[in-house]
Amino acid sequence: MSSGKQIHEQSLADLGATSPDAIVARFAEVRARFDSDCQNMAAIGVGNLDAWQALRNAWLGRSSGVITAIGDNWLKPATPDQKRVVGKALNELKAHVERTLEELRARAESAGEAGAAAGGIDLSLPGVIRSLGTRHPIRQTFEELERIFLSIGFSIVEGPEIETPYYNFEALNIPEHHPARDTMDTFYLSLPKGAPELLLRTHTSPMQIHTMEHQKPPVRIIVPGRVYRRDNPDATHSFAFHQIEGLAVDTDITFCEFKGTVEYFVREFLGPKTRTRLRPSYFPFTEPSAEVDASCFACDGKGCRICKQAGWIELFGSGMVDPAVYGFVNYDAKKLSGFAFGIGVERMAMMRYGISDIQMFYQNDVRFLRQFE
Ligand code: PHE
Repeated sequence: MSSGKQIHEQSLADLGATSPDAIVARFAEVRARFDSDCQNMAAIGVGNLDAWQALRNAWLGRSSGVITAIGDNWLKPATPDQKRVVGKALNELKAHVERTLEELRARAESAGEAGAAAGGIDLSLPGVIRSLGTRHPIRQTFEELERIFLSIGFSIVEGPEIETPYYNFEALNIPEHHPARDTMDTFYLSLPKGAPELLLRTHTSPMQIHTMEHQKPPVRIIVPGRVYRRDNPDATHSFAFHQIEGLAVDTDITFCEFKGTVEYFVREFLGPKTRTRLRPSYFPFTEPSAEVDASCFACDGKGCRICKQAGWIELFGSGMVDPAVYGFVNYDAKKLSGFAFGIGVERMAMMRYGISDIQMFYQNDVRFLRQFE
C-alpha cells in the first residue's frame, strides 16, 4: 500500500472501494489477514495464553482493535447505500472473529493444562491449605503487659541476652561470692583462656544499669526479654524464660508511687476486684524489697487448691532502688529515688490462662497453641 497504512485505517473512498463488489472484496482481504494471524498464533504455541490475549486485543480491542477501526473508518462515513453493504459485511466479519477467538481460547487453555499434566503436575489434586498461625500465649501476655505500662508513661527498651558479670551482678550490688548469686546460677560462655567472662543474663535487671548509664533521669522503662538460669526443667522451671523488668527513677518518687503503680498494674491485669499485698523480701539491688501478691483469682482470697489455701498468689519481686545502685551509674543518690520490679511472663500467662505446666509453652504442640487464638 502506497500510504503505508493498513486498509482498515483508511476510508473506503481513499481505497477507491465504492461499489458493493469492491467493498465485499476489501472485507475478504481483512478476513484473510485475520485467519493468517490466527495461524501465526497457533505456530507460537496453542497453549500460549499471552499470545492469545495479544491477538484478541489487536482485533477486538475496544479502542484500537481492527473491528472498531472499520466501524469508524468505513461504516460511519459511508453513504446510505454503502452502509447496508458495509454493515452486513462488518457484522459477519465480527462474528467470525469472535467465534474463532473463542475456539482458540478454549484450545489455549486445555493445551496449557495438558502441558502441566505432561510435566507431572496433576491439576485435579486438592491444593495445600496453609492454616493461619496464632500469636504464642507468651507473646500475647507480653503485649498485654506492655499495653498496661505504656498507658501510664513507661517506654520499652530491650537489651542483650549475653552479659558481662558486671552488668548481671556487680553493678546490681551483687558482689562476687554473695549468696544471692546461688539462686541465679547460669550459663557462662566457653571462651578462649584470658578472654573476659560472658554469661547468659539471669534476669532483665542488667538493663536497669545500661539505661541509667546512657540516660539522665527521669527514667520510666520496661524491659521485655528472655533470661536464662541453670534450673532443671519441671512444671514451674525452665532454663530459659521471659521477664518484664520495670524501672522508674525521678526526684519525687516515694513508696506511694511504687505501691500505686503496682496496684494499678495488678487490677488492670487480673481484674478490678483483685487486691494486692506487699510482702517483705530481699534483693541486693532494692531496699526495701517486696514480693507482690494478689488475692487468688480462683477463690477471691477464701483459700483453694490453686492458692494452696493461702488466699494469695505470689506474682513478682520488686522494691525501691537501693541507693548503692545509683553509685554504679553516677546518679545522685541524695536527690533521686525510684522503684523497680521484675515480672515473670510465664507465671503471668499460667495464671491468666490456667496453665499448670510451664513446659507447655515450649513444646509447640498446635493442639495447645490453637487454644489462644
Ligand atoms: N531481677 C529479679 C529476679 O529476676 C526480680 C526483680 C527485679 C526484683 C527488679 C526487684 C526489682 O528475680
